[in-house]
Order: sequence, then C-alpha cells, then structure tokens
Amino acid sequence: MLSPTPLSLFCALLLCLPLAIVFTVTTPTSTTTSTTGGVTVTNSTYRDTHAIQEPKPQTNLNNQKIIAKIKIKPLGSPPPPLKEDDEQILQLASRVDPNLRLPGKLAYLFLTTTPLPFAPLWDLYFNQTPKTLFNIYVHEYPKTTNTPPFTGVFADRAIPSKPSKRNTPTLSSAARRLLAHALLDDPSNAMFALLSPSCIPIHSFNFTYRTLMNSTKSFIEILKNEKNAHGRWAARGEEAMLPEVTLEEFRIGSQFWVLTRKHARIVVGDKRLWPKFNQPCLDIRNCYPEENYFPTLIRMVDPQGSVPATLTNVDWRGRRDGHPRVYNASEVEPGLIMSLRKGRPRYGDDGTNGSDSSVTRRSHPFLFARKFSPDSVVPLLSITNVIFKD
Ligand SMILES: *[C@@H]1O[C@H](CO)[C@@H](O)[C@H](O)[C@H]1NC(C)=O
Ligand SMILES: *[C@@H]1O[C@H](CO)[C@@H](O)[C@H](O)[C@H]1NC(C)=O
Ligand SMILES: *[C@@H]1O[C@H](CO)[C@@H](O)[C@H](O)[C@H]1NC(C)=O
Ligand SMILES: *[C@@H]1O[C@H](CO)[C@@H](O)[C@H](O)[C@H]1NC(C)=O
Ligand SMILES: *[C@@H]1O[C@H](CO)[C@@H](O)[C@H](O)[C@H]1NC(C)=O
Repeated sequence: MLSPTPLSLFCALLLCLPLAIVFTVTTPTSTTTSTTGGVTVTNSTYRDTHAIQEPKPQTNLNNQKIIAKIKIKPLGSPPPPLKEDDEQILQLASRVDPNLRLPGKLAYLFLTTTPLPFAPLWDLYFNQTPKTLFNIYVHEYPKTTNTPPFTGVFADRAIPSKPSKRNTPTLSSAARRLLAHALLDDPSNAMFALLSPSCIPIHSFNFTYRTLMNSTKSFIEILKNEKNAHGRWAARGEEAMLPEVTLEEFRIGSQFWVLTRKHARIVVGDKRLWPKFNQPCLDIRNCYPEENYFPTLIRMVDPQGSVPATLTNVDWRGRRDGHPRVYNASEVEPGLIMSLRKGRPRYGDDGTNGSDSSVTRRSHPFLFARKFSPDSVVPLLSITNVIFKD
C-alpha cells in the first residue's frame, strides 16, 4: 500500500483544481422549480443528471487538455440546452431511491386519448380518501382546443404527453412515461396501476389499498404459448427481436397491470429490451407491443417478483375482433358488479403451476373492470353503495 507523499498530494491537487473548474463552468447556478401538470420538475434535477453525464475525470489526463477545454468554455457561457426528452426523464426515474417513503401510496396511471367518462365515479371513489394514500397521473393525447379540462381529482394531474395509438409502440412509451413521472414525483408511490378511460373500480379504495399494499409482488398477466405468439414476435420482421428476445422468451398479457416500485424502476431503466419492442411493426395486425413488452421484460428480469395475473377483469369470450365485450348502460346493475368480483383471474402457466398446491388454490380479487360504455356512468353512479362497499 502506498502512502501519499507530499509530492503526490501536490500533483493530485494540481490535477484536481482544473477539473473542479470544468465542472463549475458546465453547471448552471440557478435552481428553479416548476410544476407541470401536478408533477414537480426541478431544474436542479436536470443539472444533476447533466453533471452525472460529464466524462469521469481521468487521472492520466494531462493538464494541457483540461486548460484547453476551459478556454473553449469560458466562465459564464450558458450551459448546453438540456433536452427534456423521454430518455432523460426515464434515466432520472430509474435512479430514484428504491426505498419507499412511508406511508406508501397507490399511483393510479390513466392512459387516455379521450375525455374520462367515469371521472365522476372516480371522484366519489377517492372522496373519503386522504391525499396521503394515493396519487393520480394522466397521460392525455391528443388534446384539442375543445377538449374540456380535467376536473375533480383529475384536475392538473396530466403529465407532459405525446401521441399514442393502437398497433404502435407508443402505448408502451406512454405507460413508461407515466411510470417515470410517478417515480420522480413522489417517493411514497409504492404500487403503480395502469388504467384506461373505460376501466371502473369494482371495490372501495380501502379494499384496493389493503390488497395492493399487502403485496410484495406485481400483478401482471404473463402468458406463454398463446395463440399467435409467433405472429406477434415476428411482427417487426422475422429476426427483429433477436438476440435479446427469443420466441421462447416472448410473453403475452393484458395491457393493464399493477407494478411494484421495484418493477416500475426496472421498466423505466430498461435499455436492453425496449429498443427491440420500440421498433415499428411491419405486420400491423399482430402489433400489440403493450401486451408483450411488459410481461416479457418482467418475466426475464424478475420472474419471482410477480403474481402472473391481471386484476382488471375483462371479458374476451367469443371475441375475434381484438376488442373485448363492452358493458352498456342497460346492463349495469349490482349483480354485474358482484359477478365481476367473483371471477377468478387467469394465472400464467409459466412453470408456476408445478406441484405447489398454493398456486392452484390462489385467487386474488379483481379490483377493476373494463370495458364500460361512456353512458354507463349514470347507472354506475346510482349503485356506488354497492361498488364502494368493500
Ligand atoms: C428551467 O429554468 C429555465 C430558466 O429559468 C426555464 O426557462 C425552464 O423552463 C426551466 N425548466 C424547467 C423544467 O423548469
Ligand atoms: C377506510 O379505512 C380508514 C382506516 O381504516 C377508515 O378510517 C375509513 O373510514 C375507511 N373509509 C371508508 C370509506 O370505509
Ligand atoms: C395479506 O397477505 C397475506 C399473505 O400474503 C394473506 O394471508 C392476507 O390475507 C393478506 N391480507 C389482506 C388484507 O389481503
Ligand atoms: C346492451 O348489451 C346487451 C348484451 O350484450 C344487449 O342485449 C343489448 O341490446 C344492449 N343494449 C344496448 C342499448 O345497446
Ligand atoms: C394451471 O392451473 C390452472 C388452475 O388449476 C389450470 O386451469 C391450468 O390449466 C394449469 N396450467 C397448466 C399448464 O397446467
């Protein structure tokens, strides 16, 4: 072990001094905070990332080079423009503290391209709930001039959004964006539930909170050997997913999941699978990346960390057009809610059935259901005594 001599210390000091100047020069001094759609974005946060991205000081750099760099960037010059793009936000979000600040909150992530027809129902759902137990985030696009602003619990909860549409990777991008903003916004966000405008709650907030906060695992449907798995895997070209995702590793599952904080961080930090799933499809008919990316990723990275089922009830029986059954207003009555609750989620058969009897016995409650026609809101509001009674 070498002990530092006065000479080496002096040399180190000489080396570090100009480096310190470089960092000072490239770091903006002002720190401002702004609130965009209920999500607080701090300029200093961007500065921090920027600093992290600076090249690591190399001890063998010679001083001449450093001095030359200082000359190129004189003191007081403005910092390079910082792109507020997805990449930066995702990267920041992947570095948030993995430890939860208690009490944990549920993050409700609404992914929509329309107004929210069930906003009045959600308003009542959250009515008695302390703000310390939940957060809402809305990814809204496209927004037109005659789109009425969100009100009630949704007021000012929209995150900066980009166009998203079916049969493209943009629905997955939007979900990743929602996760990133929720992670950055509140260190208390513990579980992240993705919802659509046609989803409704079928239990009280209290019941939902108890169920989700009691789980250390995500709830995400992960199905293997589904019909047309090959078609979906090859939708971007026969070999396009290789070598990162083989057909054997490719999974299918509902777009609607609840992810743990750990898995939310895994998703926003993923740089390996995302470029594969983010490729445009050649075969549009088989292009549902949002039903493939999340289950494939979670299964590959942390197979033990999830219950392989969705807690959002949906009826696909007899459907061949890619759209599930839509419940209309005349069908809404207490019996429908009860039967939606009674359903048993379909568990992925990905080697988890085995001989473990706890697996065959398991039954988690559905917490949400879809799809409901917008005019169902009226009869739904008349049976909230049923829906919100645990
Ligand atoms: C950061 O601060 C600059 C200058 O005050 C401002 O123009 C910019 O909009 C801010 N960005 C964010 C994300 O708050
Ligand atoms: C939810 O649970 C909390 C704490 O257990 C309780 O104080 C509150 O009254 C419950 N809310 C409803 C609507 O049941
Ligand atoms: C919490 O989870 C444990 C085991 O995972 C289960 O036995 C218990 O019933 C759950 N409690 C609630 C309120 O869901
Ligand atoms: C509502 O759905 C039921 C069952 O699918 C159907 O029989 C009925 O005609 C529908 N009513 C309306 C108004 O669309
Ligand atoms: C797994 O268990 C469920 C429930 O018992 C059953 O329906 C399903 O067929 C099983 N899957 C396999 C692959 O054994």
